Amino acid sequence: MSDDFTKFATKTDIAEGTAKVFTVDGVRIAVCNVAGKCYAIEDVCTHDNAPLGAGELVDDQIECPRHGARFDVTNGKAMCLPAVKPVKTFAVEEKDGELFVDTKAAATN
Ligand code: FES
Repeated sequence: MSDDFTKFATKTDIAEGTAKVFTVDGVRIAVCNVAGKCYAIEDVCTHDNAPLGAGELVDDQIECPRHGARFDVTNGKAMCLPAVKPVKTFAVEEKDGELFVDTKAAATN
């Protein structure tokens, strides 16, 4: 794991099947626990900037609480209208039950 990763939580902080919002290095991220693996996306919907972390996580998709767009949290892809652009994703690493994220290298797929 490179020095760009910042510890932000322990794995038990995020229950399986839920999303939780953190601010790491000034970036607001929604971390989604999908079947025991955590994925981080920017906490901003690409349709109209609603906080995605407040949405419902169903399997590997989170639904925007404002207009219902869904995003695949594993790769950021917009899965249905009204969003068409992907949300940024961030690499998450787990070590000894602690979670680290690299907010400097956002990926937009
Ligand atoms: S703000 Fe998210 S779908 Fe409109």
